[in-house]
Amino acid sequence: MGFRVLGTGSALPARSVTNDDLSEFLDTSDEWISTRTGIHSRRICTTETLDDLALEASRQALDAAGVHADQLDLIVCSTTSGDHLMPAEACAVAELLGASCPAFDVSAACAGFVFALDVADGFIARGRASRILVVSAEKVSRLVDWTDRATCVLFGDGAAAAVIEAGGDNPLAIRLSTDPSVETLHVPGVPGSSPYDQTERPAQHLFMEGRRVFKFGVNAIVDAVTELCAEAHVAVTDVDHFVFHQANERILSSAVSRLGIDDARVARALAETGNISSACIPLALDRLVRAGELTSGQLVVLVGFGAGLDVGACLLRW
Ligand code: UT7
Repeated sequence: MGFRVLGTGSALPARSVTNDDLSEFLDTSDEWISTRTGIHSRRICTTETLDDLALEASRQALDAAGVHADQLDLIVCSTTSGDHLMPAEACAVAELLGASCPAFDVSAACAGFVFALDVADGFIARGRASRILVVSAEKVSRLVDWTDRATCVLFGDGAAAAVIEAGGDNPLAIRLSTDPSVETLHVPGVPGSSPYDQTERPAQHLFMEGRRVFKFGVNAIVDAVTELCAEAHVAVTDVDHFVFHQANERILSSAVSRLGIDDARVARALAETGNISSACIPLALDRLVRAGELTSGQLVVLVGFGAGLDVGACLLRW
């Protein structure tokens, strides 16, 4: 048995930070950021907690689905930037929603939404759950070094969610993969204060080899789209929407030209959100749904990629 998506939701912090705002304290410019990334502004948490954003996105998805929190059998959250190292962000969402089902997090960085969806699908396939909330919530602003112009300009905060239900034939195809490399893109863990710890304690900031991730991302999208469509016996030209991880406009346009797909079918949200890690894909989905552009029966390919280096990709019939 597969699943169908009943409803989606999303939430962003109120504060929009433009490229010009960043150039007030960084050696950067709107011209560099816009042309190298396609990002013009990003939403950054000021008074909002990640719990607030995750809750708002989840409430919207439940409303759209017509499902009450007490009807949920499971909550899976994807995050690498939760408000608490423990318990899971999903536990905070459960508490705030008043849900009493099991709740836990999945950590797969920017590929997290598709990994979480696959975990949720596994619960449905084993008959352990029939209604599941999958929420991706990220406060990347707490992970980056705000003096490093090469990384902090790229990211933003936000959350997005989907409620899925047993039934339907999704996913038509799904692929998870890891090309293991911690060094390429990572955030060190909490150093702690153990008097016995003699290991190195690196700076508590996100580190990324941007060019390596760029090439990895383009290849990940091209390979995933080709393989998923072949596996499901679907022509790439029959896919109605492509929702790829929103890291860099140049990654999207390179993938579009290598695949030869219609650019108008490729979702874009990053210009005003930046890269919000695992929340990028469900946020773009929610926008398509609310704009009336993603409708029942259409085919949509999702491809997330990032730290790990993880890739999570799936083909869904909406
Ligand atoms: O979700 C996680 C996945 N992350 C990604 O997918 C990121 C993938 N990578 C990228 O999007 C791009 O590699 C970046 C946007 C991170 C960097 O773009 P790039 O075209 O690869 O630039 P670069 O790193 O090669 O740097 C080019 C120059 C350097 O100066 P020099 O050495 O040529 O003098 C950088 O110091 O641009 C400089 N630079 C900047 N200049 C102005 C780097 N960041 C900035 C900046 N403003 N913000």
